[in-house]
Amino acid sequence: MINGKLLFFMAIVAAVLYVPATSFAEASVSEGKRLGKTCAGCHGTAGNTPGEYIGKIGGQNPTYMTKALTEFADGKRAKSVEMSIVSKGYTQEQLKSIAMYYSTQKWVNSTNNINMAKAEAGKAIAMDNGCMDCHGANGEGMDEYPRIGGQNKGYLYEVMKRYKSGDIKSDEMELITELNDAQLDKLANYLSGIR
Ligand code: HEC
Ligand code: HEC
Repeated sequence: MINGKLLFFMAIVAAVLYVPATSFAEASVSEGKRLGKTCAGCHGTAGNTPGEYIGKIGGQNPTYMTKALTEFADGKRAKSVEMSIVSKGYTQEQLKSIAMYYSTQKWVNSTNNINMAKAEAGKAIAMDNGCMDCHGANGEGMDEYPRIGGQNKGYLYEVMKRYKSGDIKSDEMELITELNDAQLDKLANYLSGIR
């Protein structure tokens, strides 16, 4: 009898202590959904950002997004005025939850107008420079490599210029300093139009 009670007690302790990894992940995603409501004003429903000049975040890779949000909050991407202000309102854990939530949303390709001649030329530049070696054959990215295929065109162009000027620092993106603005425009047309 005593043994039976003890076993019963131990089973309850075990049940209380056992928190499956998935339940934590789900809690973060739902927390991220709640906290991330403020993002919709600029980034659209479920991160499917309309327009040309703000990046889509629905379906973007969570590791990359967490890093970018942390850098906005730490002032390392200070020239992004809106994001510097917005990101400072959250803790690191909250930023991670928000990134996780948006990463679970469906990626919707940009519908920006693509200049086909520029896109052709941009593809050649991307191949010559090994851009897709890191960003994936269709620009889908992975982990710390952001998704760039199907991203909004104006955002792609502007953000590449920021890596080029050093506003955003990344050793891996160093090669962008070798390219002129006309080449970046061609790349933006190519990348935004990838399906
Ligand atoms: C007031 C408008 C505004 C709001 C609100 C806003 N953003 Fe942004 N966001 C921007 C702009 C503008 C950029 C482009 C910044 C740049 O040019 O570097 C951006 C860029 C980003 C990027 C980088 C995109 C990429 O592909 O690298 C991420 C990630 C992001 N925002 C996430 C969020 C999240 C999460 C929230 C809510 C907590 C949020 N944003 C709220 C305007 C906004
Ligand atoms: C060695 C790997 C590597 C190569 C090669 C590379 N990138 Fe990147 N790229 C990255 C990483 C990593 C980031 C994110 C850096 C950060 O954390 O700020 C990035 C960021 C970007 C972004 C910003 C995405 C966003 O959502 O803000 C664009 C656009 C981009 N790369 C385009 C290119 C193009 C075009 C080329 C070829 C000329 C290229 N990359 C070559 C690794 C690479």
